[in-house]
Amino acid sequence: MIFRQVFDNKSSTYTYLIASAKGREALIIDPVIENVDIYISLLNELELKLVKVIDTHIHADHVTGASDLKIKTSCTTVMGENTPADSVDIKLRDEETIKIDQLEIKAMYTPGHTSDSYSFLMDNYLFSGDTLLINGTGRTDFQNGNSKDAYNSIFNKLLKLPEDTILYPGHDYNGKKSSTIGNEKKFNPRLQVKDADQYVELMSNLNLAKPKLIDINVSKNIRLGAN
Ligand code: FE2
Repeated sequence: MIFRQVFDNKSSTYTYLIASAKGREALIIDPVIENVDIYISLLNELELKLVKVIDTHIHADHVTGASDLKIKTSCTTVMGENTPADSVDIKLRDEETIKIDQLEIKAMYTPGHTSDSYSFLMDNYLFSGDTLLINGTGRTDFQNGNSKDAYNSIFNKLLKLPEDTILYPGHDYNGKKSSTIGNEKKFNPRLQVKDADQYVELMSNLNLAKPKLIDINVSKNIRLGAN
């Protein structure tokens, strides 16, 4: 399998490029508009045909490269069905799978960080967007975020996956590239709570600054980054 994790320095976003082998069809998860040329170079170098681009949710901290990639490669755009982005080509339901060549990706509806947040599972690779991060979890204080939903998505869906499931998050601010469900269960400080109420309490006391450019980014992302 071909697997590339591309880091965006400005927003600390991870983008994933996946294909079964050189010369085959490819998938990109959470592209950043400023890095589209990097993805195109990678696709060319590996002789891949981009067929699908997934955004895990409407992002607040960067603009998606989905529209730009669609224009440049004729790929299909994909999000979960709860997205407010009308122009998405394929809207997946919870538990629905899509195939890219020999790869099968399952959508998991994991609201909480935003009301349209999905995670995507491919074999034992979990692309968690901002629902579950390494040593952290996605904030829940805008875009219809909800800490109780986040608790439910994390504890009753993602943490129920096998412990050796590899976690590939949508961001990391400390240089970490991956983790496992087992590690996060044991060591993630946000997950050491006894119940949903304690999690809600913890999340309501984070006092985080609003992301810069959130209003501009969200309104662009609802159009998948198109002008
Ligand atoms: Fe996010």
